[in-house]
Amino acid sequence: MISRMSSHRSANAEFLARSLAAVWHPCSQMKHYETFPLVPIARGSGVWLYDFEEKRYLDAVSSWWVNLFGHCNPRINAALRDQLEKLEHVLLAGFTHEPAVQLSERLAALAPPGLGHCFYASDGASATEIALKMSAHHWRNSGKPDKSRFISLENSYHGETLGALSVTDVALFRSAYGALIRQQATVPSPDWRKAAAGESAEAYALRCADMLERHFQQHHSKLAAFIIEPLVQGATGMAMYHPVYLRRARQLCDEYGVHLIADEIAVGMGRTGTLFACEQASAPLTPASGIGEKITGITPDFLCLSKGITGGYLPLSVVMTRDEVYQGFYSDEAARGFLHSHSYSGNPLACRAALATLDIFQQDDVLAANRAKAAYMNRISRPLREHPAVRNWRNIGMIWGFEVDSPHRDFSQRCFALALKNELLLRPIGNTIYFMPPYVISNEEMDLLVSRTLHIINQLS
Ligand SMILES: Cc1ncc(COP(=O)(O)O)c(C=O)c1O
Repeated sequence: MISRMSSHRSANAEFLARSLAAVWHPCSQMKHYETFPLVPIARGSGVWLYDFEEKRYLDAVSSWWVNLFGHCNPRINAALRDQLEKLEHVLLAGFTHEPAVQLSERLAALAPPGLGHCFYASDGASATEIALKMSAHHWRNSGKPDKSRFISLENSYHGETLGALSVTDVALFRSAYGALIRQQATVPSPDWRKAAAGESAEAYALRCADMLERHFQQHHSKLAAFIIEPLVQGATGMAMYHPVYLRRARQLCDEYGVHLIADEIAVGMGRTGTLFACEQASAPLTPASGIGEKITGITPDFLCLSKGITGGYLPLSVVMTRDEVYQGFYSDEAARGFLHSHSYSGNPLACRAALATLDIFQQDDVLAANRAKAAYMNRISRPLREHPAVRNWRNIGMIWGFEVDSPHRDFSQRCFALALKNELLLRPIGNTIYFMPPYVISNEEMDLLVSRTLHIINQLS
């Protein structure tokens, strides 16, 4: 990187050199920054990020799926300024504060019914850790200490701390960190791209649910919980599946006495078109089911939220759970209580950002506005969808994904670099391009996103 710089260093280059010398970046082989650019960002506004020379990038991935209402949103900024003048932080053990209480009350009113207890942490992986620990500890408190195993879907992603990695199915992580973790089993993913020829997404999801049942039949006495990314497995490349799987999973968990953990860290807060993806869990529509009307919605035993919960402003996560689970810990004995804490659990500023985010959902009828945006996007993206190199076009809510047939083995890096040249921030996963833009994206910005992506695909296919 440094060798490519001219003697007169630009503002960007100066900054990059400092960053590369001092910052160890996440999810990165640092040496790759010698050939592929690290992008310096000086400021953000709406869907746009700007470097130190005012070159702009449309943030089509919402900065790792966190930003909902644009960068430097005036309403969230104002709420944070107000909170800063009142209380920046206080520990949540033995103390309480207005933003945490209000947020817990409002989330309980919005989430699937019955999830009345909020446990806070700072990031997504911590929420996964909490849900896993809470589930196993609940079984222990119920006199079933052997129920301490977990299962997840093939290709699942639930975070990168050691407990979260144990239910994350990424080959690279398994080989690097396998020795450190108690690896848990996986069951086949209902990802519809894996359906047999001629098999519908629904039929395939039901077939996968049968395989889940077989696993439960054999292992339920040792199983604490089944953890799942509802509707979309994000990190594996926006794999989508039929919502009937969620309903069957709920039924099977009830039948076999296994907790269901819904990891909505990525898909919660409106991403899939409903505030929570679990709201879309549907019953089979086959005549044999005897159900004429679509029944939707399930309540998991644990609901994990993070990412968009603060509108992409501050680290915050929450695990919501049912009264029955909560009561299992309620006791005179300290050891029966839930043993988990983080210094910044329920930070007031982060909770206040989350409250401002919920206000925007309510005041702007965001879910309805997003339906119109998604319809527009689906209309204008036809040339992309019908491009000969594009396969498996898929969309749910404000998430789009597709694979690109390309002769380039390093497609994702090339695509990333070419996108930057075209004012787009895309982060392909292998050959999968996805869009997960902030909800404030305008029609003109969607036009630009589609036309520039088409241009990129034409060059790389
Ligand atoms: C479904 C899911 N769970 C958990 C996580 C981990 O969240 P964090 O990166 O905040 O630790 C992610 C992050 O992408 C995720 O997509």
